[in-house]
Order: sequence, then structure tokens, then C-alpha cells
Amino acid sequence: MSFCIAIDGPAAAGKGTISKAVAKHFGFAHLDTGLLYRATGAKTFEGLTPIEAAESLTAKDLERDDLRSGDAGQAASRVAAVPEVRAALVDFQQAFARREGGAVLDGRDIGTVICPDAEVKLYVIASDEVRATRRHKELVAKGEDISLEAVLEDLRERDERDAARATAPLKPADDATVIDTTEMSIDEAVAQVIALIEARRG
Ligand code: CDP
Repeated sequence: MSFCIAIDGPAAAGKGTISKAVAKHFGFAHLDTGLLYRATGAKTFEGLTPIEAAESLTAKDLERDDLRSGDAGQAASRVAAVPEVRAALVDFQQAFARREGGAVLDGRDIGTVICPDAEVKLYVIASDEVRATRRHKELVAKGEDISLEAVLEDLRERDERDAARATAPLKPADDATVIDTTEMSIDEAVAQVIALIEARRG
């Protein structure tokens, strides 16, 4: 049987960590759809057009070690605004969402476009400052030399671009449950989400 959990929200709100923990708890497969856009964006560094990059994407492209960088994030949000890029990535995500045994997908348009009939839809948010502080810590731990202010600016710029685009913009599905993680530890957020999904599964 399939069971799709859609987790959307702005940059660095905690989607990735929550998704991984939820997938582990329920024994579901997890797809970080941001990686598809980051890998597509990173391929444009080598001269491919965004559409060529998306259409030629392979599993190997997702293994690049620069995908979590700020540059890859910016490139991702630029290519993600191109309708043909999104179209090239839809089938893979939809098949993943309906695989046997359950799936958790996190991104920007999972509950609105990829899996509008998802059994559970969450929209994870946190204040700009908290998101920037969390992402800054991650990037510094990876060896990136970047200020907190630059991270905050990067998140706001991407969110604005993601929310303003015409195709599959960043926004909560009408029937999504909003989880604000500003005042929560990761453990608290994960526990709340697991309780909500368990209630929904009956
Ligand atoms: O980890 P973070 O929240 O910073 O970003 P991400 O989930 O890795 O996504 C990187 C970029 O890919 C976003 O800023 C979006 O522009 C784009 N994206 C998208 O358009 N649709 C998705 N389903 C996932 C990501």
C-alpha cells in the first residue's frame, strides 16, 4: 500500500531533519526533492542550460559533494523557476510518492503539485532569524566561510523567488497543517509531527 507524507516550507525551516526522522520512524522511503533542483543547478556551473541539466539528471549527479553549498542553493532556486525544468522532474517524484510501503517527500510543491492527494500534508515554518542561525551553523560546520547576515539574505532572496514564481510557487496547500518550529527543538518538532501522523493513520 502507498502512503504519502508531503512536507513543504521555506528554506532551512527544518523540513529535511523532520522528514528523515519521520521516514525512519515509519519505515518509509525519503526523497529530499531540493536535491534534484540543487543537482540541476550545479550542472549549469559546467555550461549546460537549466533544461539540458534537468533532462540529463542521473542518480550520480545527486552524489556531488557541493550540493549543500550556498551557491548550489541559489542556482537551484533559479533553475526551479523554469517550467520545463520542473516538468522534467515530475514523473520521478510522483512515482516515488506512490511507491509501495510509504514515502516522505520534502520540498516546496509536494502538497500542491507533486502529490495533491497526499495522506498527510505539512507546511514547516520558522522565523527568518532562527532559520538563518540553523543554516549558518550547518554551513560553518561544513567549512564554508560565510556570515550569519549573508545566510539570512540568501534565505530571504530564495524564499522571495520561490514564492513569486508562476509555476508551483512556495505556498501551503489549502489542507496542510502548519508547524512552526521557531520555539521548538528538533526532537520536539519530530515528536509533534509523528503524533500528528499517527493520529491520521488511525
Ligand atoms: O534545504 P533548503 O530548504 O535550503 O533548500 P532545498 O529544499 O534544498 O531547495 C533548494 C531550492 O530548490 C529551493 O530554494 C527551491 O527553489 C527549489 N525547490 C523547488 O523549487 N521545489 C522543490 N520541491 C524543492 C526545492
